Amino acid sequence: MTLRRCLLPLVALCASTSLSAQTADPLAPTGRWSAYQGGSAQTPPMGWNSWNAFFTHVDEEKLMGSAERIRSSGLAQKGYRYINIDDGWWIKRRTSDNKLMIRTDKFPSAKVKGDPSFRPLTDKLHAMGFKAGIYSDLGRNICSQAYADGSEQLPEGSVAEREVGLYGHTDQDIRLFFADWGFDAIKVDGCGIRAYAADAPRVTSGQYRALAPLIDQHSISRSNIPAVKALFADINQSLAKYNPDGDYMLSLCIWGSANVRSWGKDVGNISRTSDDISPDWGRMLTNYDSAARRALYAHPGGWNDPDMLFIGKGDFDENHLTEARSHFSLWAMMNAPLLIGADLRTTPQALIDVFGNADIIALNQDPAGNQAVMAFDADGFQILVKTLANGDKAVALFNRGLAPVNAILTADHLKFRDDRPVALANLWTGEKSSFTKDMKLTVAPRETAVFRAKGDRTLADGLYLSEQPGMVNPAADGVVQPEPDPTIYRSIPNWRGTRGIGERPMYAGYGGAMADFTPYNQPLVIAGKTFTSGIGILANSRMEVRNNDFSRFAAQVGVDDSALTPDQPVRFFLYGDGKPLASTPPMRRGDPARPLAADVKGVKLIELVARADGVKANAVPVTWGDAALLR
Ligand code: GLA
Repeated sequence: MTLRRCLLPLVALCASTSLSAQTADPLAPTGRWSAYQGGSAQTPPMGWNSWNAFFTHVDEEKLMGSAERIRSSGLAQKGYRYINIDDGWWIKRRTSDNKLMIRTDKFPSAKVKGDPSFRPLTDKLHAMGFKAGIYSDLGRNICSQAYADGSEQLPEGSVAEREVGLYGHTDQDIRLFFADWGFDAIKVDGCGIRAYAADAPRVTSGQYRALAPLIDQHSISRSNIPAVKALFADINQSLAKYNPDGDYMLSLCIWGSANVRSWGKDVGNISRTSDDISPDWGRMLTNYDSAARRALYAHPGGWNDPDMLFIGKGDFDENHLTEARSHFSLWAMMNAPLLIGADLRTTPQALIDVFGNADIIALNQDPAGNQAVMAFDADGFQILVKTLANGDKAVALFNRGLAPVNAILTADHLKFRDDRPVALANLWTGEKSSFTKDMKLTVAPRETAVFRAKGDRTLADGLYLSEQPGMVNPAADGVVQPEPDPTIYRSIPNWRGTRGIGERPMYAGYGGAMADFTPYNQPLVIAGKTFTSGIGILANSRMEVRNNDFSRFAAQVGVDDSALTPDQPVRFFLYGDGKPLASTPPMRRGDPARPLAADVKGVKLIELVARADGVKANAVPVTWGDAALLR
C-alpha cells in the first residue's frame, strides 16, 4: 500500500493492516498472493494439545507422558510433531519487569538458576524430534480467568500480576516464548478482548481490570474488526522478528467471531471457525459445519481450524469407534489441523489406531493442499470430495444421523467420466472395488466411509478451479453485510446445557466464496444454464489464483440467476501477474454466459475480478462457470 493511499480516508485501516489486500480499491490487481505466508504450515499442523484432556490442569508429567506415547506408538513417524501447552501454565506476570512466570510446581524442569524457564522442556521436546507450542491471549486476561469455576490453575497475586495476556506486552512476551524459551508455535486466544467489559461481575468485583470488548461472538456490528486485526499485526511483526528462520506456527483462536472465517487466512496459519468442541456428536457437527463449506478460505500456509480432536472421550471414546473414525476422517478431509486432545498415557490402542491411519493422514497432508468440497449436501448426509496432488480423489460419505443411509456415489460427484471404471480403495477397511457410472452402498449411522478413487477425469486436459481451492484465494469476497451462517448445526453446548436462549446462527461469513455453488449454496446458473463446476462469489470480488504451469484460463461468466437485483450491471476482468488479459462488457441477470479466457503461459498469478459499481449490499452473486486452468 502506498503512502499516498494511506493519507486518504483509510488512515485507520492503513495503520492497522500495513501491506494487506485492503488497499483503497480492493479490486485493483496486485499481481501477488495476499493470504498469509508467514510461519510454517505448508500442510495442516499435526500434534497434541493439553486442553481437551486436562483443561487448565496441565503439568509436565502429563505432557511428557503424551509426547512419549506419540513417540513409542509410532504416531511421531506418521507426522504428529507439535506438543502444545494450552491454558494453565502461568503463575503471574512479575510487575518489576513484566516478565511472565511459570508454575514451576507443575513444570519442575522450569526451575532453573535465575528466572524460571521453559527452555529445558523445549530442549527435551526438540531432542525427541518434536516442536513445542505455547498459549496466550490477545487481551490482558485469559479464558480460564473468565470462565473458572474454582479449581483451575489460575494466575495468582495482585490484579496486575494476574494480567498474563499479550495486551501491552506483545513484543516482550513473543520474544520470551520464541527467542528465550525456544517455542515453535503459539495459540492466541481472545477471551481477554471479549469477557472483561466494565460491567462484567469479574471486573466490577475488582478482580480484573476492564478492557472494552473488541469482539462479541453474537454480533458482528458490536465487533471492532480493524482493532482485532491490528493486535494480530503486532503479533505477526514480533513473530517475524524473533523467528528469523520463519519456523513458527500462529494459531488464531477467536472462534469464528468478528468475521474471522473470512480474514483469518490473511493473518495466521490456522484460524478457529467456531466456539469450543466438546466430546458430543452434536458439538462435533457444529464445529465441522463451521469449516466444511469454507474450502476456498484454506490454502497451504493458512487453514480453517474447527478445533482440536476430541477423540478419546464421550461420544468419541473406545466404545464409539464409528464416531471416532468419522471425527478423524472429517478433520482430515477438511485439511483441519490434526491436534490430538487425549491423555495419551491411557488411550487404548484402538484409538491410537484411529489417529494412526496413515492413508487418512495422507489425505490431510496431501501437498496440493485442497480442502474437500461438498459434492452432495443434505442435513442428514453429505459427500465430500478432495482433489489430491497426483490426480486421485478422496471421497468421504458422511452419515450424520442415527439411521443407515442407502447412498449412491456417482462418477459425477468425483468429476470423473461416467463411461469409464472408477477404482476405489476403502481407507478404513482396505477393501478394493470399482464401479462405472454409479455405486450403491449403505453407510451406517454416524459412519464416514472414506475412499481413495482413481478414474478418468471429465476435464482431461486441466483442472477446474473448484478442484483446486488451495490455489484460489478470495482476496476480496464481496461480502459487505456479513451475515450469520444458517447452515451450521446448532448444538446444545455441554458447558451451558439448555440455560439461556440456545444457539442462534452466529458465525459470520455466510455469503462467502464457494466451490461449485453460489455463495448461498445454490446451484450455479447463468440465464438458465447450469454449471456443475465453477466458483460462486459475490460481485465486487477479487480472487487470486496460483498458476502451476497451466497455459490457458477459461470460464463462462455472468450474473447468477439467484441475484436479487435484475438490472445491476457487473463487469468481469481477468489479469495475469497484475496486467489486464481480458474483460467483458457490463452484464446483467438474464444475460447469457460469456466466455472469458486468456493465454496464461508463464503467468504466476491470475486474478479474477467481478465489479458491480455502486452496489452497497450482498445482492449480486456472480458465477465463474466451468472456470478452469488448462494444459
Ligand atoms: C478457549 C479456547 C480453548 C482453550 C481455552 C483455554 O475457550 O477456545 O480452545 O484454549 O480457551 O482456557
